Amino acid sequence: MSKIFVDACFGKKTPYTPVWMMRQAGRYLPEYMKVRAEAGDFLSLCRDPKKACEVTLQPIDILGVDAAILFSDILVVPMEMGMELKFVKGEGPLFLSPIKSEEDLDRLCIEEAAKRLEYVYEAIRLIRGELEASKALIGFCGAPWTLATYMIEGKGTKTYALVKKLIYTNPKFMHKLLKKVTEVIKLYMENQIKSGVDAVMIFDSWAAALEEDAYFEFSWSYMKEISTFLKSRYPEIPVIMFPKGISGYLDRIDGEFDVFGVDWSTPIELAKEKLGDKYVLQGNMEPTRLYSKEAIKEGVEKIVKVMKNQRHIFNLGHGILPDIPVENAKYFINEVQTQTKI
Ligand code: CP3
Repeated sequence: MSKIFVDACFGKKTPYTPVWMMRQAGRYLPEYMKVRAEAGDFLSLCRDPKKACEVTLQPIDILGVDAAILFSDILVVPMEMGMELKFVKGEGPLFLSPIKSEEDLDRLCIEEAAKRLEYVYEAIRLIRGELEASKALIGFCGAPWTLATYMIEGKGTKTYALVKKLIYTNPKFMHKLLKKVTEVIKLYMENQIKSGVDAVMIFDSWAAALEEDAYFEFSWSYMKEISTFLKSRYPEIPVIMFPKGISGYLDRIDGEFDVFGVDWSTPIELAKEKLGDKYVLQGNMEPTRLYSKEAIKEGVEKIVKVMKNQRHIFNLGHGILPDIPVENAKYFINEVQTQTKI
């Protein structure tokens, strides 16, 4: 059965512009909070295929979005490579022993990590079994660069001091780490596809930490390696790239993939001008607009004016915030589906 989301990824005409939201399965939904409480904590929820399946499907039932995104986290990959991970309340993720030396790097496993992620593959099989055939399931991973920042810094950072110091003082070490992560991601994404995802998205949340040349050397090249690998084997599976905050570098974006994720700080007109002929665009309403219905309506109208019926998937320009009223999220989805109807 054809899926409006997959059709749109390949630039086919659709009856309206499909829409979903980054972080659509999350804390703003009371139903999510209930399942998370039952699981105990966030990582236990990620490791429990039945519960992960349940929260993945919640936004489909509650909001009527056109695609589900697998419930998991980008950081389960470095965790299963052998790094102990904790989510500290109010502070976010923490790796207890960040990578400091060649020995730390050599200890990280590749094939074994891809095997240990079996709970993700099982969740995908369960979700695909329950999800309506007309809705797509999106699998995902973090970009090697974004994962490497966490692996070196140990946690979120404002300055990226440790990981950027490595780029300029020991680029060989950095490339060795990025290569290793890339190898795991290739196996991981291939397994996600074999388990049933209909599309994949690569999140490069910390792209904007790098100056232009460094970005293309230390991040984009590895994202492209992954997309080329996947497109050569699975041409029917759309690949979505989401490098956040690099509006200044769009002239150098190239490679084999289908959809370019536009973040909220990049004017959609600019993305359309630079990339719209070559790639379908996804995005990019400012997520904070979701606090106000007027701001939502206006935000949707602005994007529709530029992109209506023109190779576009609607989304926010980054993840939904945890205290957004569910009613406003529903309003957003409905506005898009109505305003873009042919
Ligand atoms: O989009 C979805 O609904 C699917 C699930 C998903 C999560 N994380 C669940 C999650 C996805 C696609 C991610 C990706 C992710 N994780 C990224 C890339 C996207 C982005 O937002 O830039 C990054 C950088 C991470 C790392 C991460 N995970 C951080 C920094 C945090 C803490 C911040 C926060 O919101 O608490 C997480 C935790 C996390 N991942 C939560 C969820 C629902 C919140 C956990 C909870 O308290 O229940």
